[in-house]
Amino acid sequence: MKKLLEVKNLSVHYKIQAGWVYAVDGVNLEVNHGETLGLVGESGCGKTTTGYGVTQLLPSNAYIKEESKIIFEGKDLVKLGTHPSKKYEGYRKIEEYNPEMRKYRWAKISMIFQGAMNAFNPVYKVGDQIIEAILAHENMTKQEALKRVEELYRLVGIPKDRINNYPHEYSGGMKQRAMIAMALALNPDLIIADEPTTALDVVTQDRILGEMVRLQKREKIAMILITHDVSVVAEMAHKIAVMYAGNLVEKGTAKEVFKETAHPYTEALLNAFPSIKGEKKRLKAIPGSPPDLANPPKGCRFAPRCPYAKDICLEQEPPVVEISPGHYSKCHFAEELYGELGGE
Ligand SMILES: Nc1ncnc2c1ncn2[C@@H]1O[C@H](COP(=O)(O)OP(=O)(O)OP(=O)(O)O)[C@@H](O)[C@H]1O
Ligand SMILES: [Mg+2]
Repeated sequence: MKKLLEVKNLSVHYKIQAGWVYAVDGVNLEVNHGETLGLVGESGCGKTTTGYGVTQLLPSNAYIKEESKIIFEGKDLVKLGTHPSKKYEGYRKIEEYNPEMRKYRWAKISMIFQGAMNAFNPVYKVGDQIIEAILAHENMTKQEALKRVEELYRLVGIPKDRINNYPHEYSGGMKQRAMIAMALALNPDLIIADEPTTALDVVTQDRILGEMVRLQKREKIAMILITHDVSVVAEMAHKIAVMYAGNLVEKGTAKEVFKETAHPYTEALLNAFPSIKGEKKRLKAIPGSPPDLANPPKGCRFAPRCPYAKDICLEQEPPVVEISPGHYSKCHFAEELYGELGGE
């Protein structure tokens, strides 16, 4: 499979009054054409920052470390989206309205936002907002764009007479479907879906996710699916990246990460969720809580909560170990623990 996106050593930090929040530190990811990558981890571990970092749609206090690279279809988006003269203590500053990046957003990389419930502007009709996005990128008449929206509504299962409704007239599930329609509108190569269905009931969630994946497969669109729900990615993703406190701690195929687990945090995460095999088991909460990213612990960031931690873990940052081809773990004891770990 051909590489579509390569994120190399991505670090995104937020400037706050007291210093920095090290939200994402040295993340490496690859996504091939048509492939789904699941990005999982507890709340606050940096999933959204990583996802939005790819399109550089970040709050104004976000800075990207200079060595970070986001290679998309051969071009480095970090270079495109930031101004070469606006450097700051080894960081690049994002230009919010950078015209080069605007060519990529929606047309090549589209997004389904976390909390899509509020993603539409309440004072404009939903259909008009999608039409406007289409017209901003494609050389079409308004009539042609409307036709495209009708086709998209059919695809995502919203009756077309709803095109002229305002966002508040839609149910939560309908807004989510409209957001998916918007994400598909310009035939992107990559969709970044950030907790696309978390706010919905489980039945609607399943149905919408199922449809989203069916459409994505049909149109051969690659996807980064961000979620804290391990069972969602287990079903839908080819590859999994597990994030903890701003670091990727394990990466591999879904089978490798879930069945041949090589990081203690992944094991803890698997034990905290209902079994993906559907067996009954007692759920084990992960003791303690994730560290404050303004002041991350020295050594391994998971060490203070890790049942396997030894002295070295509290002192030295672990290296990333390739445990088998393409399967990585950021753990001092990855090799020793490999084969021992796994969800119960
Ligand atoms: N604008 C900001 N300024 C300062 N800190 C921020 C900002 N946005 C996010 N953070 C912090 O960065 C860290 C990562 O946040 P992020 O939203 O990427 O996590 P997440 O994994 O998506 O969490 P969730 O599962 O809750 O959506 C958190 O510690 C968060 O508090
Ligand atoms: Mg998030």
